[in-house]
Amino acid sequence: MLFDTHAHLNDEKFNEDRQDVIARARENGVSLICNIGYNRETITTSLELTRQYDFIYTAIGWHPQDAKTMTDDDLAWIEKLASEEKKVVAIGEIGLDYYWDTSPKDVQHDVFRKQIRLAKKLKLPIIIHDREAHQDIINILREEEAEEVGGIMHCFSGSPEMATECINMNFYISLGGPVTFKNAKKPKEVAEHVPLDRLLIETDCPYLTPEPYRGKRNESGYVRYVAEKIAGLKNISFEKIAEITTENAKKLFQIQV
Ligand code: NI
Repeated sequence: MLFDTHAHLNDEKFNEDRQDVIARARENGVSLICNIGYNRETITTSLELTRQYDFIYTAIGWHPQDAKTMTDDDLAWIEKLASEEKKVVAIGEIGLDYYWDTSPKDVQHDVFRKQIRLAKKLKLPIIIHDREAHQDIINILREEEAEEVGGIMHCFSGSPEMATECINMNFYISLGGPVTFKNAKKPKEVAEHVPLDRLLIETDCPYLTPEPYRGKRNESGYVRYVAEKIAGLKNISFEKIAEITTENAKKLFQIQV
């Protein structure tokens, strides 16, 4: 039993074989998936997926890369969907992206803050996208008192010390493909450091493919390689990692199945 807490199965890279990819995820032991919609188009298609598959849930939000395009109508639309659709389990992915830097920082901050406030109003956890923006992410989460809802640090790329700061603010640390990369020291240190009851796993498919498929398209079934790697680093069984990370995600998303 595995829970892929961050997938983009509605991505066009799956247009040719989406059903097969989802069937393979099931064959690989993935029993639950949280798919992410991050703009008008992908929120719509992500919700469609939740209607087609009972084991797929969704988070909806406005991605920092698109921050400059988010209107007040978009925010109101997200609020309406999140309150009406039962399978919306979080607001996200939201946050800051200083790597691509496609929206000005002040606009990213504003859109991020608005969505944290929305999540608090709706009492939903948030899923954080943080690319080269660690300190500003921490500052904004603290200033907005995001602790009240908590959530997930998606594909966490910070240090073990930062992981502790996030955990102290009621966040879970989610690790994906990079923990399997030979040259990636930090995610391995984080995996060793984070207590089991605060750990989640994800693919971020079609991106960030774990070893042994690095360089190819990622898919939800490959979350097992992330779990295997973490099991090795923590010196516990694969089954235990699968069970605990699944229970953690179900608790956070309030999924009872
Ligand atoms: Ni993502």
